[in-house]
Amino acid sequence: MNDTDGLPVNDSGAREARPMTEGRASMTEIVMPNDANPHGSVSGGRVLHLIDVCAAVAALRHARRSVVTASFDDVAFLAPVPMGHVILLDAQVTGVGDTSIEVRVIVRGENPITGDRRHTTTAYVTFVALDDAGRPAQVPGLSANTDEEHASMERSRLRREARLGRLHHD
Ligand SMILES: CC(C)(COP(=O)(O)OP(=O)(O)OC[C@H]1O[C@@H](n2cnc3c(N)ncnc32)[C@H](O)[C@@H]1OP(=O)(O)O)[C@@H](O)C(=O)NCCC(=O)NCCS
Repeated sequence: MNDTDGLPVNDSGAREARPMTEGRASMTEIVMPNDANPHGSVSGGRVLHLIDVCAAVAALRHARRSVVTASFDDVAFLAPVPMGHVILLDAQVTGVGDTSIEVRVIVRGENPITGDRRHTTTAYVTFVALDDAGRPAQVPGLSANTDEEHASMERSRLRREARLGRLHHD
């Protein structure tokens, strides 16, 4: 059943919730010469682009409507990923507001010869769902089914408070 805005509602008309397992996406890329900085490893801008794309797919799978990137939280690059190595991204919806969706993206580099993997970045990206007129539109709620998912949603709530606090002070 859908409400007039196309959003799934339950029999009582309340906003439906989707499980966290639906809001996921993964990507695997190889670092090519075009992606590299003068040091021969992937450039920060390229990694941000990949994070944005992977996170958007997770957000779309949760919202099932169009979304735009509203913000990136602080992003740190902890280790270089050299040209020819593999870059792996795993995105997970970790929290939602009325119209916004927070997605965590974990980035790892992999040496394709040895198979060694190392964590390079964890990023939090916030998307806002839009209706056909381009206005913020409600998204489904998020349901947690495990203790870890509940804890993850609680941490997301705290990050959202801090993020909105910063937004309103800038
Ligand atoms: C994101 C955007 C749609 C928000 O529009 P807005 O009129 O400021 O929206 P509102 O104030 O009504 O807030 C809507 C939601 O967005 C959230 N939001 C707005 N700005 C945000 C920001 N910078 N970071 C995180 N969340 C933000 C609000 O918290 C609110 O969330 P909630 O409904 O879950 O509580 C608008 O700023 C925009 O279009 N930005 C450009 C997006 C874009 O082009 N991105 C591509 C890269 S440039």
